[in-house]
Amino acid sequence: MGVNHRIEVRGAGKSFGSLQVFRDLNLDVGEREVLAVIGPSGCGKTTLLRCMNGLVPLSEGEILVEGARMAAPREGVAMVFQHFGLFPWKTVQQNVAYGLKLAGATAAAIGEKVPYFINLVGLTGFEGYYPYQISGGMQQRCGLARALAVKPRVMLMDEPFGAVDAQTREILQFELLRIWEARPTTMVFVTHAIDEAVLMGDRVLVLKGRPAGVHEVVNVDLPRPRDRATLLLPRFAELREHVWSTLMQEAKEAEFKV
Ligand SMILES: Nc1ncnc2c1ncn2[C@@H]1O[C@H](COP(=O)(O)OP(=O)(O)OP(=O)(O)O)[C@@H](O)[C@H]1O
Ligand SMILES: [Mg+2]
Repeated sequence: MGVNHRIEVRGAGKSFGSLQVFRDLNLDVGEREVLAVIGPSGCGKTTLLRCMNGLVPLSEGEILVEGARMAAPREGVAMVFQHFGLFPWKTVQQNVAYGLKLAGATAAAIGEKVPYFINLVGLTGFEGYYPYQISGGMQQRCGLARALAVKPRVMLMDEPFGAVDAQTREILQFELLRIWEARPTTMVFVTHAIDEAVLMGDRVLVLKGRPAGVHEVVNVDLPRPRDRATLLLPRFAELREHVWSTLMQEAKEAEFKV
């Protein structure tokens, strides 16, 4: 394993039949690093995360997490799914407890940890509700609590705030930053939102093309801890513009091909 690299992606490619989604991806994510991933819809962001989580096999190359090849979901690696991934037949309490149960936590540990994480994401009072009885944003927070509860060393987040309204999104972004600062871990954070990518990431990976490849890796040299004031820094605006123009260049190139 490379020095301080929790995730290593080597020559990774993925095809579904004749559809080549991405090819020859090479990247490392450090032990206390947030890698934000951005790219057009359908470029393979979710697929890449699923490969990192061991849910989907690569077609070429390999992904190592903590030095071992990802062939199946594994302890220490948690994923927050784009569409919540909650069990509809389980309550908020049971959904949050699920990962802990899988990890073999005792009933006493579960009884202690679940209320803590439910409170952390502001769902106290809704423990007995089923996913269909709570809002999209609340479901997303439930998914976040479930992932955080197992104290993962690697967090894979697939547009974790994609389905919530703008205000909830802001609240959750700063909440997640606070949680991360308190316990920095390896995080891969997929998003459509440029400002979110710059706010969260130590680097922003811009994917492009079909099959997708690494278009650019933008180093986000903004100080941590980050909070609302970060959004007002001139450097924040510069980086956002930079990522924006990188993505627009991609859109223009795509237009010419049509
Ligand atoms: N199980 C599958 N079988 C066949 N094709 C798939 C499968 N999963 C994903 N794909 C295809 O792979 C491509 C990338 O999909 P993916 O969901 O990774 O994109 P994405 O970048 O996450 O998009 P979005 O931003 O819309 O979430 C798409 O063309 C999709 O149709
Ligand atoms: Mg996706």
